[in-house]
Amino acid sequence: MAFLFVHSFFFFTFFLLCFFSAATNHLHHWVGPTGHRLIKVNVNGGSDVFLSVQAAVDSIPDYNTVNTIIRISPGYYVEKVVVPATKPYITFEGGGKETTVIEWHDRAGDRGPSGQQLRTYRTASVTVFANYFSARNISFKNTAPAPLPGMQGWQAAAFRISGDKAYFSGCGFYGAQDTLCDDAGRHYFKECYIEGSIDFIFGNGRSMYKDCELHSIATRFGSIAAQDRNSPHEKTGFAFLRCKVTGSGPIYVGRAMGQYSRIVYAYTYFDDVVAHGGWDDWDHVSNKNKTVFFGVYKCWGPGASKVKGVSWAKELEYKEAHPFLAKSFVNGRHWIAPSDA
Ligand SMILES: *[C@@H]1O[C@H](CO)[C@@H](O)[C@H](O)[C@H]1NC(C)=O
Ligand SMILES: *[C@@H]1O[C@H](CO)[C@@H](O)[C@H](O)[C@H]1NC(C)=O
Repeated sequence: MAFLFVHSFFFFTFFLLCFFSAATNHLHHWVGPTGHRLIKVNVNGGSDVFLSVQAAVDSIPDYNTVNTIIRISPGYYVEKVVVPATKPYITFEGGGKETTVIEWHDRAGDRGPSGQQLRTYRTASVTVFANYFSARNISFKNTAPAPLPGMQGWQAAAFRISGDKAYFSGCGFYGAQDTLCDDAGRHYFKECYIEGSIDFIFGNGRSMYKDCELHSIATRFGSIAAQDRNSPHEKTGFAFLRCKVTGSGPIYVGRAMGQYSRIVYAYTYFDDVVAHGGWDDWDHVSNKNKTVFFGVYKCWGPGASKVKGVSWAKELEYKEAHPFLAKSFVNGRHWIAPSDA
């Protein structure tokens, strides 16, 4: 009964919303958030502060329409955090990526509350399902120990972004296997530091990484990006612009997680850590080397020549590279301020 009631209420609201948006659509294409709210978090306590980031998120009402900054004081926040889809327009603002850290330690093989294995996507220390999320000057870590090569069930994400139009600047992402789950939606990462060993940026996001450092801690073999585009009609892909690839190797710079995976590196510096061939087709059987779009454009550094190591990943012409060189790749004109790009 309660269930039925909830359902009819939901549909009623839904029809109202459709009616409302149809009626106002010609006036306003987009009704953004209104007003500002500041919420403070300090793990060391204080007046008018939450002690945990999740408590601060929980205090924000569902269907939030207010630009909400959660200001997180320096410290280690040892907790798992979820920002649900019902809470858009939230910003996590730390005091610096060296001093403000949210961390947890779940691995894919660990069991969840109902006894089932977590699997990779549910290991993230921080998960964001909401749209219009942003984070500045803060780090996210998964502190599970790094697996040795061949160990199963040790995927351990630090952050998962599944919401649309997410913006990150001055953030750190620390883990080993599968650090940053760039799952779905349009995302922009500026001046971030991303560390890991295997597929440490992965998923089916449509994302631009600009002026970021991609740091490998691989011991025997590793890989940076695994992109999961699965059809030629999807607009997803990873564009790395003016990044810096450092750390230990040898590493593949990209792997064909999806049949139509897209990964482009432009104006990027590569240390001498790139594996022979540079790229990996994931399974050697599904001919992904014929359907992926992997390319480099004006890259440099001692590892740069190896990034052109296979015939299906090559130096792009300007007109091929062009769509991956500006924030228009993520439709940024509509949601990223020029000063933030
Ligand atoms: C983030 O840190 C940078 C560099 O320390 C600083 O210039 C900037 O103002 C900070 N941003 C915020 C939102 O605190
Ligand atoms: C492409 O991959 C197939 C197997 O999926 C392999 O047989 C073929 O040699 C590869 N071609 C190139 C050019 O690497």
